[in-house]
Amino acid sequence: MASKAPQAYEVDVNELDGTPEQQAYMKDIIDQFTIDTDYLKQVRDHFMVEMKKGLDKEGSTVAMIPSYVEGRLTGKEEGHFLALDLGGTNLRVVLVTLEGQGKFKTVSSKSRVSEELKMGPMRNLCDYIAECVDTFLTEQGLEDQEIELNLGYTFSFPVLQTKINRGVLSTWTKGFACSGAVGKDPVLLLQDALLRKHVPVKVSALVNDTVGTLLSNAYNKPATLAGLILGTGANGAYIEKMKNIGKWKGGKTTSDEMIINMEFGAFDNERRILPLTRFDNKLDRESINPHAQLYEKMISGMYLGEITRNVLTDMIDRELLLKREENTSFAWSKEISRHWSFETAFMSNIEADNSKDFAYTKEILDTNLSLHDITTTEAKFIKKICELVGKRAARLAACSIAAIVQHCGAAEEGCDIGIDGSLYEFYPSFEDRMYEALSELMPEISDIRKTIRLGLAKDGSGVGAALTACVAARMENARASA
Ligand code: BGC
Repeated sequence: MASKAPQAYEVDVNELDGTPEQQAYMKDIIDQFTIDTDYLKQVRDHFMVEMKKGLDKEGSTVAMIPSYVEGRLTGKEEGHFLALDLGGTNLRVVLVTLEGQGKFKTVSSKSRVSEELKMGPMRNLCDYIAECVDTFLTEQGLEDQEIELNLGYTFSFPVLQTKINRGVLSTWTKGFACSGAVGKDPVLLLQDALLRKHVPVKVSALVNDTVGTLLSNAYNKPATLAGLILGTGANGAYIEKMKNIGKWKGGKTTSDEMIINMEFGAFDNERRILPLTRFDNKLDRESINPHAQLYEKMISGMYLGEITRNVLTDMIDRELLLKREENTSFAWSKEISRHWSFETAFMSNIEADNSKDFAYTKEILDTNLSLHDITTTEAKFIKKICELVGKRAARLAACSIAAIVQHCGAAEEGCDIGIDGSLYEFYPSFEDRMYEALSELMPEISDIRKTIRLGLAKDGSGVGAALTACVAARMENARASA
């Protein structure tokens, strides 16, 4: 399944009118945000270098974390599993029924994780999660189980795994900053909270959402090579040969392949190649994790709106946008001056605008940011800026896919890539723009869409966690009978 996103309607550069100062400003912005084919190739090449580094030793910016998920799926995996998904905007509890032959059913409940929980003590967050699991089990009539239910915990942050159900959180990302969690095992912290509440559940697998996405895609597409998340955050996982994982110290495995959680959001934190603009630097400096996750900050949903806002406010400060002679109080710019007020969802809607005189763009700005009486010239500038930021994200994201495919030598044979996340699913033309960049990066492939098959892997976190719990059981059996 391709993404469900609408088409983006791009603004022709020749249609950008305005004063000579405005035009000069726009020209400069276009230059800064446009990444040509040569530059894309350099980013992809550096990505491949960093992948190798990460496989060889600890401490590389692309961490390349072995997931302890060994071997491939058969597609016959069956059973009932509980999955928990923490790491994006919501917390989800999912009951997954794997039916074999790549088919599954899910029932789930979703709740929002408040800013207070994201920034408070980890104990409070775990207690809240345990409460949500408890309520869900009651709703499903599963609260009085004799046997403990196995739970796959999709915890979508950089965790250095030490077993399939053990690991240590190295750092928070995506606006989370709970105290008492970094350096600790998220499984033990959650298991303690479940015990405190007498919830009959055993956390049997710890899964990154990208690993889950890869597995859920592979459940019915055996040629799956990688899983990506392009949502609030960004990251990828792929299948690597054990012999290439130079730093592996985990002993004998049950297969010669293992899934690697790349943690590529941190790609180029050293600033060697990413085409960072002053707007990216501003965002980074003002974020709760400066100097970290630089690639993620250029390509994921949590940040694109803020980059766009940084450009818009810069234009406003230079009196090149929203200059209103009759209104000197600047009261109208209050909302857009607020950090994070320009959501990536607004960009999505603006990019899909095909209305006459940009009426829809004007309406979005009016309703959400109290920017009244936007002129058509201004609406065009704003739409163009959204396009530049959105397109750059898709093109840079494509570099990671090209790097994985080329690193694995999969370009000739072709492969499936499962992708989940709001940006990929809903952002206008995000997928088309990625394909366009991929064909520039791999011109030797004659039909890019048929060879590197991107597809929406819905509910990777739920189904993927269940599948990981299955693989964990299989690995245990294989070891017991070895
Ligand atoms: C996290 C990853 C995760 C990605 C997508 C990043 O911020 O570090 O572990 O896979 O977001 O959710």
